[in-house]
Amino acid sequence: MEKFVITGGTPLKGVVNISGAKNAAIAIIPATLLVEDECILENIPDIKDVNIILDMLSCLGAVVERIDKNTVKINATNLHTYIVEKDLASKMRASYYLLGALCGRFKKASVALPGGCNFGIRPIDQHIKGFEALNCKIGIKSGSVEVDASLLSAGHIYFDKVSVGATINIMIAAAKAPGVTVLENAAREPHVVDVANFLNSMGANIKGAGTDTIKITGVEKLHGGTYGVIPDQIEAGTYMFAAAATRGDVTIKNVIPKHLDAITSKFVEMGVEVIEGDDEVRVIATKELKKINVKTLPYPGFPTDLQPPMVALLTTVSGTSIVTESVWDSRYQYVSELGKMGAQITVDGRVAVIEGGTPLLGAEVVATDLRAGAGMIIAGLCASGETHISEIKYIDRGYEDVEEKFGALGADIKRIDD
Ligand code: EPU
Repeated sequence: MEKFVITGGTPLKGVVNISGAKNAAIAIIPATLLVEDECILENIPDIKDVNIILDMLSCLGAVVERIDKNTVKINATNLHTYIVEKDLASKMRASYYLLGALCGRFKKASVALPGGCNFGIRPIDQHIKGFEALNCKIGIKSGSVEVDASLLSAGHIYFDKVSVGATINIMIAAAKAPGVTVLENAAREPHVVDVANFLNSMGANIKGAGTDTIKITGVEKLHGGTYGVIPDQIEAGTYMFAAAATRGDVTIKNVIPKHLDAITSKFVEMGVEVIEGDDEVRVIATKELKKINVKTLPYPGFPTDLQPPMVALLTTVSGTSIVTESVWDSRYQYVSELGKMGAQITVDGRVAVIEGGTPLLGAEVVATDLRAGAGMIIAGLCASGETHISEIKYIDRGYEDVEEKFGALGADIKRIDD
Protein backbone atom coordinates (compact mmCIF):
# COMPACT_ATOMS: atom_id res chain seq x y z
CA MET A 1 0.00 0.00 0.00
CA GLU A 2 1.42 3.35 -0.99
CA LYS A 3 1.44 6.39 1.27
CA PHE A 4 2.43 10.02 1.07
CA VAL A 5 4.84 11.25 3.68
CA ILE A 6 4.80 15.02 3.97
CA THR A 7 7.06 17.18 6.12
CA GLY A 8 5.20 20.43 6.45
CA GLY A 9 6.08 24.01 7.17
CA THR A 10 7.47 25.25 3.85
CA PRO A 11 5.59 28.02 2.02
CA LEU A 12 5.03 26.86 -1.56
CA LYS A 13 6.76 28.96 -4.21
CA GLY A 14 7.08 28.72 -7.98
CA VAL A 15 5.04 27.70 -10.99
CA VAL A 16 2.71 24.75 -11.53
CA ASN A 17 1.07 23.64 -14.80
CA ILE A 18 -2.49 22.42 -14.63
CA SER A 19 -3.57 19.26 -16.46
CA GLY A 20 -6.71 18.62 -18.49
CA ALA A 21 -10.01 18.46 -16.60
CA LYS A 22 -10.78 15.03 -15.14
CA ASN A 23 -14.53 15.52 -15.10
CA ALA A 24 -14.55 16.72 -18.72
CA ALA A 25 -12.26 13.90 -19.92
CA ILE A 26 -14.29 11.13 -18.29
CA ALA A 27 -17.42 12.38 -20.06
CA ILE A 28 -15.84 13.15 -23.44
CA ILE A 29 -14.17 9.72 -23.65
CA PRO A 30 -17.54 7.84 -23.46
CA ALA A 31 -19.06 10.40 -25.85
CA THR A 32 -16.60 9.23 -28.54
CA LEU A 33 -18.75 6.08 -28.78
CA LEU A 34 -21.24 8.18 -30.77
CA VAL A 35 -18.59 8.69 -33.45
CA GLU A 36 -17.97 5.92 -35.98
CA ASP A 37 -14.59 7.33 -36.87
CA GLU A 38 -11.29 8.28 -35.24
CA CYS A 39 -11.25 10.86 -32.41
CA ILE A 40 -7.99 12.29 -31.12
CA LEU A 41 -8.30 13.77 -27.65
CA GLU A 42 -5.59 16.12 -26.40
CA ASN A 43 -4.87 17.39 -22.88
CA ILE A 44 -6.26 14.19 -21.34
CA PRO A 45 -4.94 13.88 -17.78
CA ASP A 46 -2.87 10.79 -17.04
CA ILE A 47 -4.87 9.65 -14.00
CA LYS A 48 -6.53 6.45 -12.80
CA ASP A 49 -10.13 7.47 -13.55
CA VAL A 50 -9.22 8.14 -17.18
CA ASN A 51 -7.52 4.75 -17.44
CA ILE A 52 -10.63 3.04 -16.02
CA ILE A 53 -12.99 4.68 -18.51
CA LEU A 54 -10.58 3.91 -21.38
CA ASP A 55 -10.60 0.25 -20.25
CA MET A 56 -14.39 0.29 -20.38
CA LEU A 57 -14.28 1.52 -23.98
CA SER A 58 -11.76 -1.18 -24.92
CA CYS A 59 -14.03 -3.84 -23.40
CA LEU A 60 -16.88 -2.59 -25.60
CA GLY A 61 -14.65 -3.05 -28.66
CA ALA A 62 -13.28 0.45 -29.24
CA VAL A 63 -9.64 0.70 -30.33
CA VAL A 64 -7.87 2.87 -27.79
CA GLU A 65 -4.32 4.06 -28.24
CA ARG A 66 -2.27 6.42 -26.08
CA ILE A 67 -0.28 8.52 -28.54
CA ASP A 68 1.62 10.19 -25.70
CA LYS A 69 1.10 10.87 -21.98
CA ASN A 70 -1.79 13.28 -22.60
CA THR A 71 -3.10 12.35 -26.06
CA VAL A 72 -5.44 9.47 -26.75
CA LYS A 73 -6.76 8.12 -30.05
CA ILE A 74 -10.12 6.33 -29.94
CA ASN A 75 -11.81 4.55 -32.81
CA ALA A 76 -15.24 3.22 -31.87
CA THR A 77 -16.24 2.06 -35.35
CA ASN A 78 -16.46 -1.61 -34.41
CA LEU A 79 -18.15 -1.97 -31.04
CA HIS A 80 -19.30 -5.50 -30.24
CA THR A 81 -21.45 -5.07 -27.13
CA TYR A 82 -23.67 -2.62 -25.28
CA ILE A 83 -23.14 -4.30 -21.91
CA VAL A 84 -20.77 -2.90 -19.27
CA GLU A 85 -20.12 -5.45 -16.54
CA LYS A 86 -20.21 -4.78 -12.80
CA ASP A 87 -16.48 -5.26 -12.12
CA LEU A 88 -15.68 -2.32 -14.42
CA ALA A 89 -18.73 -0.04 -13.98
CA SER A 90 -18.63 -0.18 -10.20
CA LYS A 91 -15.12 1.31 -10.22
CA MET A 92 -16.37 4.80 -10.95
CA ARG A 93 -19.41 7.02 -10.86
CA ALA A 94 -18.93 8.36 -14.37
CA SER A 95 -19.65 4.94 -15.88
CA TYR A 96 -23.23 6.24 -16.17
CA TYR A 97 -22.09 8.33 -19.16
CA LEU A 98 -21.89 5.06 -21.07
CA LEU A 99 -25.68 4.84 -20.79
CA GLY A 100 -26.15 8.03 -22.81
CA ALA A 101 -23.41 7.14 -25.29
CA LEU A 102 -24.56 3.54 -25.87
CA CYS A 103 -28.20 4.63 -26.29
CA GLY A 104 -27.15 7.13 -28.94
CA ARG A 105 -25.02 4.51 -30.67
CA PHE A 106 -26.77 1.13 -30.18
CA LYS A 107 -30.27 2.20 -29.08
CA LYS A 108 -29.61 -0.15 -26.17
CA ALA A 109 -27.47 -0.03 -23.03
CA SER A 110 -26.83 -2.15 -19.99
CA VAL A 111 -24.44 -0.65 -17.45
CA ALA A 112 -23.98 -1.96 -13.93
CA LEU A 113 -24.91 0.57 -11.25
CA PRO A 114 -22.13 3.13 -10.89
CA GLY A 115 -19.63 3.22 -8.00
CA GLY A 116 -17.52 6.23 -6.99
CA CYS A 117 -16.73 8.25 -3.85
CA ASN A 118 -19.15 7.83 -0.96
CA PHE A 119 -20.89 11.12 -0.18
CA GLY A 120 -24.12 9.59 1.10
CA ILE A 121 -26.98 8.55 -1.15
CA ARG A 122 -26.16 9.19 -4.82
CA PRO A 123 -29.45 8.78 -6.70
CA ILE A 124 -29.78 8.65 -10.49
CA ASP A 125 -33.46 9.66 -10.65
CA GLN A 126 -32.69 12.73 -12.81
CA HIS A 127 -30.84 10.56 -15.34
CA ILE A 128 -33.84 8.21 -15.42
CA LYS A 129 -36.26 11.13 -15.83
CA GLY A 130 -34.17 12.37 -18.76
CA PHE A 131 -34.03 9.00 -20.55
CA GLU A 132 -37.79 8.56 -20.15
CA ALA A 133 -38.37 12.00 -21.68
CA LEU A 134 -36.30 10.83 -24.66
CA ASN A 135 -38.80 7.97 -25.11
CA CYS A 136 -36.51 5.32 -23.68
CA LYS A 137 -37.61 2.46 -21.44
CA ILE A 138 -35.31 2.27 -18.44
CA GLY A 139 -35.18 -0.08 -15.49
CA ILE A 140 -32.80 -1.69 -13.02
CA LYS A 141 -32.31 -5.45 -13.41
CA SER A 142 -29.90 -7.52 -11.29
CA GLY A 143 -27.77 -4.52 -10.37
CA SER A 144 -27.60 -3.05 -13.89
CA VAL A 145 -29.35 -0.07 -15.44
CA GLU A 146 -30.93 -1.29 -18.67
CA VAL A 147 -32.16 1.09 -21.33
CA ASP A 148 -34.17 0.30 -24.43
CA ALA A 149 -33.73 3.31 -26.70
CA SER A 150 -35.26 1.83 -29.84
CA LEU A 151 -37.71 4.78 -29.96
CA LEU A 152 -35.09 7.38 -28.96
CA SER A 153 -36.34 10.83 -29.93
CA ALA A 154 -36.16 14.41 -28.69
CA GLY A 155 -37.83 15.44 -25.43
CA HIS A 156 -38.33 18.36 -23.06
CA ILE A 157 -36.82 17.89 -19.61
CA TYR A 158 -36.99 20.15 -16.57
CA PHE A 159 -34.47 18.74 -14.09
CA ASP A 160 -35.80 18.84 -10.51
CA LYS A 161 -32.26 19.23 -9.27
CA VAL A 162 -29.16 20.72 -10.90
CA SER A 163 -27.10 17.67 -11.81
CA VAL A 164 -23.83 17.71 -13.73
CA GLY A 165 -24.07 14.00 -14.50
CA ALA A 166 -27.70 14.01 -15.65
CA THR A 167 -27.18 17.12 -17.80
CA ILE A 168 -24.16 15.61 -19.58
CA ASN A 169 -25.65 12.12 -19.88
CA ILE A 170 -28.88 13.33 -21.48
CA MET A 171 -26.98 15.78 -23.72
CA ILE A 172 -24.89 12.87 -25.02
CA ALA A 173 -27.97 10.64 -25.54
CA ALA A 174 -29.85 13.47 -27.32
CA ALA A 175 -27.01 14.41 -29.69
CA LYS A 176 -28.31 11.88 -32.26
CA ALA A 177 -31.99 11.78 -31.19
CA PRO A 178 -34.28 13.07 -33.95
CA GLY A 179 -35.89 16.44 -33.12
CA VAL A 180 -35.02 19.24 -30.71
CA THR A 181 -34.37 18.28 -27.08
CA VAL A 182 -34.60 21.01 -24.46
CA LEU A 183 -32.89 20.65 -21.06
CA GLU A 184 -34.04 23.14 -18.43
CA ASN A 185 -32.45 23.75 -15.03
CA ALA A 186 -29.31 22.28 -16.59
CA ALA A 187 -25.92 22.31 -14.84
CA ARG A 188 -23.60 25.11 -16.03
CA GLU A 189 -20.21 23.69 -15.00
CA PRO A 190 -17.27 24.30 -17.38
CA HIS A 191 -17.10 20.57 -18.14
CA VAL A 192 -20.75 20.59 -19.31
CA VAL A 193 -19.70 23.25 -21.83
CA ASP A 194 -16.60 21.26 -22.77
CA VAL A 195 -18.61 18.11 -23.56
CA ALA A 196 -21.00 20.22 -25.71
CA ASN A 197 -18.03 21.81 -27.50
CA PHE A 198 -16.52 18.39 -28.15
CA LEU A 199 -19.79 17.04 -29.58
CA ASN A 200 -20.30 20.19 -31.70
CA SER A 201 -16.77 19.90 -33.05
CA MET A 202 -17.71 16.37 -34.23
CA GLY A 203 -20.87 17.65 -35.99
CA ALA A 204 -23.52 17.82 -33.21
CA ASN A 205 -25.86 20.80 -32.86
CA ILE A 206 -25.96 21.85 -29.20
CA LYS A 207 -26.72 25.41 -28.13
CA GLY A 208 -26.88 27.06 -24.73
CA ALA A 209 -24.38 24.91 -22.79
CA GLY A 210 -23.14 27.07 -19.91
CA THR A 211 -26.65 28.48 -19.35
CA ASP A 212 -29.51 26.71 -17.59
CA THR A 213 -31.29 25.92 -20.88
CA ILE A 214 -29.61 23.68 -23.43
CA LYS A 215 -31.12 22.94 -26.86
CA ILE A 216 -29.91 19.90 -28.75
CA THR A 217 -30.98 19.34 -32.35
CA GLY A 218 -30.33 15.69 -33.09
CA VAL A 219 -28.06 14.90 -36.05
CA GLU A 220 -27.82 11.63 -37.94
CA LYS A 221 -24.09 11.14 -37.81
CA LEU A 222 -21.03 12.53 -36.04
CA HIS A 223 -17.62 12.69 -37.68
CA GLY A 224 -14.15 12.18 -36.27
CA GLY A 225 -11.65 14.89 -35.42
CA THR A 226 -9.24 16.29 -32.84
CA TYR A 227 -10.31 18.00 -29.63
CA GLY A 228 -8.40 19.47 -26.66
CA VAL A 229 -9.92 19.18 -23.18
CA ILE A 230 -10.14 22.31 -20.95
CA PRO A 231 -7.83 22.77 -17.95
CA ASP A 232 -8.95 21.26 -14.65
CA GLN A 233 -10.70 23.89 -12.58
CA ILE A 234 -10.56 21.74 -9.43
CA GLU A 235 -6.88 20.85 -9.77
CA ALA A 236 -6.12 24.56 -10.30
CA GLY A 237 -8.20 25.41 -7.23
CA THR A 238 -6.37 22.78 -5.18
CA TYR A 239 -2.99 24.43 -5.91
CA MET A 240 -4.51 27.86 -5.17
CA PHE A 241 -5.56 26.56 -1.73
CA ALA A 242 -2.18 24.93 -1.11
CA ALA A 243 -0.46 28.24 -1.94
CA ALA A 244 -2.73 30.22 0.39
CA ALA A 245 -2.62 27.70 3.24
CA THR A 246 1.19 27.53 3.29
CA ARG A 247 1.35 31.36 2.95
CA GLY A 248 3.21 30.95 -0.30
CA ASP A 249 3.47 32.60 -3.70
CA VAL A 250 2.51 30.31 -6.59
CA THR A 251 1.71 30.94 -10.25
CA ILE A 252 -0.82 28.44 -11.53
CA LYS A 253 -0.51 28.16 -15.30
CA ASN A 254 -2.71 26.75 -18.07
CA VAL A 255 -5.98 27.76 -16.41
CA ILE A 256 -9.10 29.63 -17.46
CA PRO A 257 -9.19 32.35 -14.75
CA LYS A 258 -12.95 32.87 -15.23
CA HIS A 259 -13.56 29.28 -14.06
CA LEU A 260 -11.81 30.17 -10.80
CA ASP A 261 -13.83 33.31 -9.99
CA ALA A 262 -15.68 31.75 -7.04
CA ILE A 263 -12.33 30.90 -5.41
CA THR A 264 -10.68 34.18 -6.31
CA SER A 265 -13.54 36.18 -4.77
CA LYS A 266 -13.29 34.22 -1.49
CA PHE A 267 -9.52 34.69 -1.48
CA VAL A 268 -9.90 38.44 -1.91
CA GLU A 269 -12.37 38.44 1.03
CA MET A 270 -9.77 36.60 3.13
CA GLY A 271 -6.88 38.87 2.19
CA VAL A 272 -5.12 36.51 -0.23
CA GLU A 273 -3.82 38.38 -3.28
CA VAL A 274 -4.78 36.89 -6.66
CA ILE A 275 -3.25 38.32 -9.84
CA GLU A 276 -4.99 37.11 -12.99
CA GLY A 277 -3.24 36.76 -16.36
CA ASP A 278 -4.66 35.47 -19.64
CA ASP A 279 -4.18 31.82 -18.76
CA GLU A 280 -2.66 31.94 -15.28
CA VAL A 281 -3.38 33.08 -11.75
CA ARG A 282 -0.75 34.02 -9.19
CA VAL A 283 -1.70 33.48 -5.55
CA ILE A 284 0.24 35.41 -2.92
CA ALA A 285 -0.56 34.95 0.75
CA THR A 286 1.78 37.17 2.73
CA LYS A 287 -0.74 39.17 4.80
CA GLU A 288 -2.66 37.90 7.83
CA LEU A 289 -5.77 36.10 6.57
CA LYS A 290 -9.34 36.74 7.71
CA LYS A 291 -11.94 34.10 8.63
CA ILE A 292 -14.86 33.67 6.23
CA ASN A 293 -18.11 31.78 5.69
CA VAL A 294 -18.58 29.67 2.55
CA LYS A 295 -21.46 27.73 1.03
CA THR A 296 -20.90 25.22 -1.77
CA LEU A 297 -23.21 25.58 -4.76
CA PRO A 298 -23.47 24.40 -8.37
CA TYR A 299 -21.37 26.48 -10.81
CA PRO A 300 -20.83 29.44 -10.84
CA GLY A 301 -21.01 29.06 -7.04
CA PHE A 302 -18.18 27.79 -4.86
CA PRO A 303 -17.45 24.18 -5.97
CA THR A 304 -18.18 21.33 -3.56
CA ASP A 305 -15.03 19.57 -4.81
CA LEU A 306 -12.94 22.33 -3.23
CA GLN A 307 -14.76 22.19 0.09
CA PRO A 308 -12.10 19.95 1.78
CA PRO A 309 -9.19 22.18 0.57
CA MET A 310 -11.14 25.22 1.82
CA VAL A 311 -11.66 23.62 5.25
CA ALA A 312 -7.95 22.73 5.41
CA LEU A 313 -7.06 26.36 4.64
CA LEU A 314 -9.52 27.70 7.25
CA THR A 315 -7.90 25.60 9.98
CA THR A 316 -4.87 27.90 9.54
CA VAL A 317 -6.88 31.15 9.86
CA SER A 318 -7.63 32.57 13.33
CA GLY A 319 -11.29 32.87 14.29
CA THR A 320 -14.49 30.97 13.60
CA SER A 321 -15.30 30.16 9.97
CA ILE A 322 -18.45 28.37 8.83
CA VAL A 323 -18.67 26.10 5.78
CA THR A 324 -22.04 24.87 4.49
CA GLU A 325 -22.12 21.93 2.07
CA SER A 326 -25.23 22.26 -0.06
CA VAL A 327 -24.47 19.82 -2.90
CA TRP A 328 -23.76 16.47 -1.17
CA ASP A 329 -25.49 15.01 1.92
CA SER A 330 -22.35 13.69 3.48
CA ARG A 331 -18.99 15.16 2.56
CA TYR A 332 -17.29 15.67 5.92
CA GLN A 333 -15.93 12.15 6.60
CA TYR A 334 -12.40 13.55 6.41
CA VAL A 335 -12.93 16.05 9.23
CA SER A 336 -12.07 13.48 11.89
CA GLU A 337 -8.73 12.97 10.08
CA LEU A 338 -8.02 16.71 10.33
CA GLY A 339 -8.95 16.40 14.02
CA LYS A 340 -6.08 13.91 14.44
CA MET A 341 -3.78 16.75 13.32
CA GLY A 342 -5.17 19.12 15.96
CA ALA A 343 -7.80 20.93 13.85
CA GLN A 344 -10.79 22.16 15.86
CA ILE A 345 -13.83 21.46 13.70
CA THR A 346 -17.37 20.50 14.64
CA VAL A 347 -19.83 19.20 12.10
CA ASP A 348 -23.60 19.32 12.38
CA GLY A 349 -25.28 17.88 9.28
CA ARG A 350 -24.19 19.99 6.33
CA VAL A 351 -22.46 22.68 8.42
CA ALA A 352 -18.86 22.64 9.61
CA VAL A 353 -17.67 25.16 12.18
CA ILE A 354 -13.93 25.68 12.12
CA GLU A 355 -12.12 27.27 15.05
CA GLY A 356 -9.00 28.14 13.11
CA GLY A 357 -5.53 29.17 14.06
CA THR A 358 -4.59 26.28 16.34
CA PRO A 359 -1.33 24.74 15.13
CA LEU A 360 -1.58 21.60 12.98
CA LEU A 361 0.70 18.71 13.93
CA GLY A 362 1.77 15.88 11.65
CA ALA A 363 -0.18 12.63 12.14
CA GLU A 364 -1.16 9.34 10.50
CA VAL A 365 -4.26 10.12 8.45
CA VAL A 366 -6.38 8.54 5.75
CA ALA A 367 -7.55 10.02 2.43
CA THR A 368 -11.23 9.15 2.73
CA ASP A 369 -11.94 10.18 -0.89
CA LEU A 370 -10.31 12.07 -3.76
CA ARG A 371 -10.88 15.68 -2.69
CA ALA A 372 -10.61 14.81 0.99
CA GLY A 373 -7.16 13.50 0.02
CA ALA A 374 -6.32 16.91 -1.47
CA GLY A 375 -7.42 18.49 1.80
CA MET A 376 -5.14 16.14 3.75
CA ILE A 377 -2.16 17.04 1.54
CA ILE A 378 -2.78 20.74 2.17
CA ALA A 379 -3.10 20.17 5.93
CA GLY A 380 0.11 18.10 5.86
CA LEU A 381 1.96 20.90 4.06
CA CYS A 382 0.92 23.31 6.83
CA ALA A 383 1.59 20.99 9.78
CA SER A 384 4.76 20.78 11.80
CA GLY A 385 6.43 17.39 11.62
CA GLU A 386 5.55 14.42 9.41
CA THR A 387 2.10 13.59 8.09
CA HIS A 388 1.51 10.11 6.68
CA ILE A 389 -1.46 9.88 4.31
CA SER A 390 -2.74 6.41 3.44
CA GLU A 391 -5.34 5.33 0.83
CA ILE A 392 -3.69 7.61 -1.71
CA LYS A 393 -5.26 5.52 -4.47
CA TYR A 394 -8.12 8.03 -4.20
CA ILE A 395 -5.77 10.94 -4.86
CA ASP A 396 -4.27 9.13 -7.86
CA ARG A 397 -7.77 8.87 -9.38
CA GLY A 398 -7.88 12.58 -10.04
CA TYR A 399 -4.52 14.35 -9.69
CA GLU A 400 -1.79 13.94 -12.31
CA ASP A 401 1.81 13.76 -11.06
CA VAL A 402 0.75 15.08 -7.70
CA GLU A 403 3.99 14.61 -5.76
CA GLU A 404 6.10 15.89 -8.67
CA LYS A 405 3.97 19.03 -8.96
CA PHE A 406 3.98 19.78 -5.23
CA GLY A 407 7.66 18.85 -5.03
CA ALA A 408 8.53 21.40 -7.74
CA LEU A 409 6.88 24.07 -5.55
CA GLY A 410 9.23 23.21 -2.68
CA ALA A 411 6.98 20.80 -0.80
CA ASP A 412 8.64 17.91 1.01
CA ILE A 413 6.35 15.08 -0.16
CA LYS A 414 7.37 11.50 -0.84
CA ARG A 415 5.46 8.46 -2.06
CA ILE A 416 6.50 5.39 -0.11
CA ASP A 417 5.51 1.75 -0.33
CA ASP A 418 4.42 0.87 3.17
N1 EPU B 1 -28.61 14.06 -7.71
C1 EPU B 1 -29.88 13.58 -7.59
N2 EPU B 1 -30.37 12.81 -8.62
C2 EPU B 1 -29.65 12.53 -9.72
C3 EPU B 1 -28.33 13.03 -9.84
C4 EPU B 1 -27.84 13.79 -8.80
O1 EPU B 1 -30.58 13.82 -6.59
O2 EPU B 1 -30.15 11.83 -10.60
C5 EPU B 1 -28.07 14.88 -6.60
C6 EPU B 1 -26.82 14.27 -6.00
O3 EPU B 1 -27.14 13.32 -5.00
C7 EPU B 1 -26.12 15.51 -5.44
C8 EPU B 1 -26.47 16.60 -6.47
O4 EPU B 1 -27.63 16.12 -7.15
O5 EPU B 1 -26.67 15.84 -4.20
C9 EPU B 1 -25.41 16.91 -7.48
O6 EPU B 1 -25.02 15.72 -8.15
P1 EPU B 1 -24.42 15.72 -9.63
O7 EPU B 1 -25.23 14.81 -10.46
O8 EPU B 1 -24.22 17.13 -10.07
O9 EPU B 1 -23.01 15.05 -9.36
P2 EPU B 1 -22.25 14.01 -10.26
O10 EPU B 1 -22.48 14.33 -11.69
O11 EPU B 1 -22.49 12.63 -9.79
C10 EPU B 1 -20.12 15.48 -10.56
C11 EPU B 1 -18.65 15.31 -10.30
C12 EPU B 1 -18.38 15.38 -8.81
C13 EPU B 1 -18.91 16.71 -8.25
C14 EPU B 1 -20.38 16.88 -8.63
C15 EPU B 1 -20.94 18.23 -8.23
C16 EPU B 1 -18.03 13.88 -12.11
C17 EPU B 1 -17.60 12.53 -12.54
N3 EPU B 1 -18.24 14.02 -10.81
O12 EPU B 1 -20.76 14.39 -9.90
O13 EPU B 1 -16.96 15.37 -8.70
O14 EPU B 1 -18.78 16.71 -6.85
O15 EPU B 1 -20.56 16.74 -10.05
O16 EPU B 1 -20.21 19.24 -8.83
O17 EPU B 1 -18.15 14.78 -12.91
C18 EPU B 1 -14.87 14.76 -7.87
O18 EPU B 1 -14.37 15.11 -8.94
O19 EPU B 1 -14.18 14.47 -6.86
C19 EPU B 1 -16.33 14.64 -7.74
C20 EPU B 1 -16.92 13.97 -6.80
